[in-house]
Amino acid sequence: MFRKQKSVVGLDMGSSVVKAVEITLEGPEPVVTGFAHVEIPPGGSLSDAVAQAFKTGKFKSKRVVTAVSGQSVVVRYVPMMKMSDNDLKQAIRFETDKYLPFDLDEVQLDCQQLKRSPLGQGDGDKKGGKDAEQMTVLLAACKTKAIEERVQILQNQGLSPIAIDIDLFALANAWELCGLPAEEVEAGKETALALVDIGAARTSINVLCGGETCFSREINIGGADMTQAVARRLSLETIEAEAIKRSSETHELEVNTAIGPVLEDLVSELSLSLDYVEHHEGVQVTEILLSGGGVLAPGATQYIEQGTGRRARTWNPLEGLRVDVNRVDVEELEAWAPTLVVAVGLASRVRAA
Ligand SMILES: Nc1ncnc2c1ncn2[C@@H]1O[C@H](COP(=O)(O)OP(=O)(O)OP(=O)(O)O)[C@@H](O)[C@H]1O
Ligand SMILES: [Mg+2]
Repeated sequence: MFRKQKSVVGLDMGSSVVKAVEITLEGPEPVVTGFAHVEIPPGGSLSDAVAQAFKTGKFKSKRVVTAVSGQSVVVRYVPMMKMSDNDLKQAIRFETDKYLPFDLDEVQLDCQQLKRSPLGQGDGDKKGGKDAEQMTVLLAACKTKAIEERVQILQNQGLSPIAIDIDLFALANAWELCGLPAEEVEAGKETALALVDIGAARTSINVLCGGETCFSREINIGGADMTQAVARRLSLETIEAEAIKRSSETHELEVNTAIGPVLEDLVSELSLSLDYVEHHEGVQVTEILLSGGGVLAPGATQYIEQGTGRRARTWNPLEGLRVDVNRVDVEELEAWAPTLVVAVGLASRVRAA
């Protein structure tokens, strides 16, 4: 009766839509106990959208995990000699010059040793020699100013930020929370899975090898480029073009023709990234799990599947999670599910909170 409950709201401050998902731990079980999504109108303020999300979401908690993305964030995979985590925290500061386009005093750094060996052949120790002494370190840096801006927005609303994550990693955390089966070996090669979130301003890619991030990248192509292409083709204002893009029946041919080149550019960048991972890690990326509002564009999934030559499907980060039906409109939640991957990944931190 008095089972301890912990709740965290994962707040995805997207460039076009604010999404918030609350997860409550009931005993060990994560349960979805709140949800909100608020579009930021052209010229509208992020802060107002966050306030609106907390008004409509009826969340139990004021504890929030949010994220940063885009140009204020840099993620690198750095080969280093093996050492303890404590030594790494010191040593990494001497590596940053080589890897980061920022001054050390304007960023917050974090780093983590990856399990995979630098050459990606699985067990580095077996190879002996130099490889056995090397490790790959995931180095993440974010401009302090960008973090402070996020924290300020939250504090102004009376919310408590408990962590600031990175969109790219929230994708992987959502996947882990879902407990989807890990990749297997196909035709003698280790397989890898690509999580690809097509947002409005950008597309985030996180490739998982053996369940662990081995590559991540942001591409500056997204739904907003598709809207602009429709606006140009039909000589419309952005707001009208956005509505026409989303209503698949009207102007179907015109919309498809306009967004085709955008999808083509996206697929070509995505293919380059996936080919790079395969070559660099010695794995085969067999599946692409798509999310973000951009996947709702007509034909996006098929385009990506054909263009990259890999299986692609939209995924639901809430699959397998219990939803508190007394607090959440399940139908609405399901309809928005593909756009909630980052918010769910952020809220999954409730397990460590
Ligand atoms: N039915 C639809 N058809 C086509 N595109 C859609 C549809 N619904 C939403 N979108 C597009 O999805 C995008 C919003 O998706 P999402 O909420 O994932 O982006 P975001 O998180 O705000 O952006 P970013 O991650 O780049 O900051 C917009 O560009 C919007 O036009
Ligand atoms: Mg987004």
